[in-house]
Amino acid sequence: MINQELLQYLCCPRCKSALTEQDIFLVCEKCGQKYEIIDENIVKIIPNLTQDLELSIQKWDEFYQKQLRDKSCFKEREDYLDNFFEDEYRQINEYKKINNDLVFLEVGCGPMIFGQKIANQCRLVIGIDFSPTALKIAKRMLEAKGIKNYLLIQGDILNMPIKTNTVDLIYGGGVIEHFKNTQTCINELYRVLKEDGVSFNTVPYLNLGSLTYRQIWGNIPNFPVLKQLAEFIHIKLLKKRHMIFGYELSFLGSTLKKMHRKVGFKEIYVDKFKVKLSFDFIPTEFLKKICIKIANNSRLFWPMIKVIAKK
Ligand SMILES: C[S@@+](CC[C@H](N)C(=O)[O-])C[C@H]1O[C@@H](n2cnc3c(N)ncnc32)[C@H](O)[C@@H]1O
Ligand SMILES: [Zn+2]
Repeated sequence: MINQELLQYLCCPRCKSALTEQDIFLVCEKCGQKYEIIDENIVKIIPNLTQDLELSIQKWDEFYQKQLRDKSCFKEREDYLDNFFEDEYRQINEYKKINNDLVFLEVGCGPMIFGQKIANQCRLVIGIDFSPTALKIAKRMLEAKGIKNYLLIQGDILNMPIKTNTVDLIYGGGVIEHFKNTQTCINELYRVLKEDGVSFNTVPYLNLGSLTYRQIWGNIPNFPVLKQLAEFIHIKLLKKRHMIFGYELSFLGSTLKKMHRKVGFKEIYVDKFKVKLSFDFIPTEFLKKICIKIANNSRLFWPMIKVIAKK
């Protein structure tokens, strides 16, 4: 049985109509499609599984299965809370004040570490990810803290089962670069946001860094010709061997602004995403320090940028 209050946020991803509960399913009032209720705070709402989507789900789920097996997800959470959370919170809160009337949505949430941490300051935190294991980890962490005001959706962020105009703040940490059709995703973010709602995403920056060292992990610069060239090298020639984060684009700020403007966002800002850098793949401490200094100070090497857009 699903918590009835949560039902008001959900819709059929195929036809965007309301869902009603029938036994262990949510059923679309219009097209009759059935979706599974996992428990009172978790639903599985994925329409039309294409081969591409199925493959991506499998890949990400294996990643989280491993994290759950070796328990590294719990260590990563502690590391994130100690080193990154406050920076991130400050930057998000600057654009949308987090308060107890707020409906927060974390897209590509993984274990939803950020959402968990702010749950007690919000009305509702919603996490959506297509990996069932990521949501299992999230649920375990949420329950351990006694958090009740949450909804986890196993769903596709390119076609969300979330009603139009229902969310105040969206956050995606390194998510919207992981598929080719980022514009479709941005359109979805716009659709579910309320008027004045804010979308906050971080993505790899297209600069000298992504054209040099980020190539070690198969980054694809989202720029004509460079994109086709990098796809050819990493996907066709190297058979994805170095694409350790799967498909990962890097963006120019101007491209992101254009994509957000296209769907109707009113105010759009792009800036450096201020975050503590680690550069663990660099062998010596001395070199690491130099690289961190350069990456922090020169936009030619900023690793990530944030794009904030107001509806
Ligand atoms: C790089 S991880 C980031 C996870 C999390 N935001 C964090 O910072 O730890 C990308 C996440 O996006 C999810 N994801 C990618 N494509 C997705 C899609 N089309 N629908 C739902 N989730 C997706 C993956 O399962 C994964 O959890
Ligand atoms: Zn339907």
